[in-house]
Amino acid sequence: MLDLINVSYDTQIPNNVGLSSDKKVLKALEKWHPGYIDWWNQLIPNRYQQSEVYLRTAVSVDPKGWAKFDYVKMPEYRWGVLLAPQVEGRTIPCGEHAGEPAWQDVPGEYRNLMKRLIVIQGDTEPASVEQQKALALTAPSLYDMRNLFQVNVEEGRHLWAMVYLLHKYFGRDGREEADDLLRRQSGSEEAPRMLGAFNEETPDWLSFFMFTYFTDRDGKMQLESLAQSGFDPLSRTCRFMLTEEAHHMFVGETGVGRTIQRTCEVMKENGIEDPFDVDRIRGLGVIDLPLIQKKLNLHYTLSLDLFGQEVSTNAANAFNAGIKGRYQENRLTDDHQLQNDTYKVWDIVDGKIVQHDVPALTAINMRLRDDYTKDAAGGVGRWNKIIEKMGIDFELKLPHEAFHRKIGVFADKLIDPDGKFISGAEYDKGMVEWLPSHADGDYIQSLMKPEYEPGKYARWIAPPKVGIDNKPGDFEYVKLAMA
Ligand SMILES: [Fe+2]
Ligand SMILES: [Fe+2]
Repeated sequence: MLDLINVSYDTQIPNNVGLSSDKKVLKALEKWHPGYIDWWNQLIPNRYQQSEVYLRTAVSVDPKGWAKFDYVKMPEYRWGVLLAPQVEGRTIPCGEHAGEPAWQDVPGEYRNLMKRLIVIQGDTEPASVEQQKALALTAPSLYDMRNLFQVNVEEGRHLWAMVYLLHKYFGRDGREEADDLLRRQSGSEEAPRMLGAFNEETPDWLSFFMFTYFTDRDGKMQLESLAQSGFDPLSRTCRFMLTEEAHHMFVGETGVGRTIQRTCEVMKENGIEDPFDVDRIRGLGVIDLPLIQKKLNLHYTLSLDLFGQEVSTNAANAFNAGIKGRYQENRLTDDHQLQNDTYKVWDIVDGKIVQHDVPALTAINMRLRDDYTKDAAGGVGRWNKIIEKMGIDFELKLPHEAFHRKIGVFADKLIDPDGKFISGAEYDKGMVEWLPSHADGDYIQSLMKPEYEPGKYARWIAPPKVGIDNKPGDFEYVKLAMA
């Protein structure tokens, strides 16, 4: 009998979807596999490919114990196809088909819409690995290097997850789309990744932490809404991806938190009270809090753009079709159809920022973005606790959603982080304080020196409170191959 909890390792591609008896899909995936390995090998510098990394690998989809930790060379990581267990009697949670049995195959009428959503999700997964490819060279510790690689191999697995769906349910079109996922490249002129934020560089470790905190959290929200899909294989895939995704946001939150911690410690040790005494703080080799605020502004606003237009008929269609639900749709208590409901969205009327009600069905993106903002605010509060505990007078804030936007009603408007319209001159002047400048980037870059000794950390970042898999402080998370 097919074991749907434990992962079968009898094929080249570990899976819990019975691949060994699904010859057609297995063959298609085996054909896709070498291209994937090529992509991976070209991306990550060889020295790290040969290093032994203490990684977790999914061996089950049982929420109580799904992973095992061990040293692995990354090219030998077992990227698998893993779906969360099928929920008996699951029904379509929303839209016009709400309450009907969940689809085990793609309904013809929704084929294109469904494929597009899977491709967009799939495109982000390898993109982030591409964005982060140079970071190992400047890892502030072996612990951090290991976390980077953990995130990278799992994003690689998420690509596999989407490629499996394309091969299994979308025939030839699906195979072509799967090939294109390896053809596009982050930041490429000819074939860029599909979404803007995934073509930006991740030039330093603070950017990486901000990215995993803010942009992986957009990923989480998208996965949450796809986990509510009436298309059951997509729902199950996304539910399992979410268990891995949680670690990525943990890496981001603790990474930023440790950076803040270290800055505050160094300020205290040197008797610096004023967080805006930037020159002195930088002279001590740590990242000033105002610069952390600027990085936060940048990554938060780039991530907001990923939610698309506030009012969207595409989003309404996907919800109405039952392809995509709202955040935690199955826990909401309305009629799940939203035919007569309204929802508040932002708009600009007569040069003022206002909120007004629109049909809730058209505001699905806005609602998901609101859920995202609430979720993202949690970690900012915890960062502020660190600063407060150290007795420093400074508070990090999420900027107003209207600030620095490229998509939606606020796109390219002259609005400051408090949500106030300002003149072009004020905007240009303010930008120096609101977003990282070249000089800020250069300063952070100057701190990016690798620290490869077990248990040691670069000066600008505090050690973690607890090790991965409860390992002690001097644990050798990466056994580096010789350069
Ligand atoms: Fe992912
Ligand atoms: Fe992620």
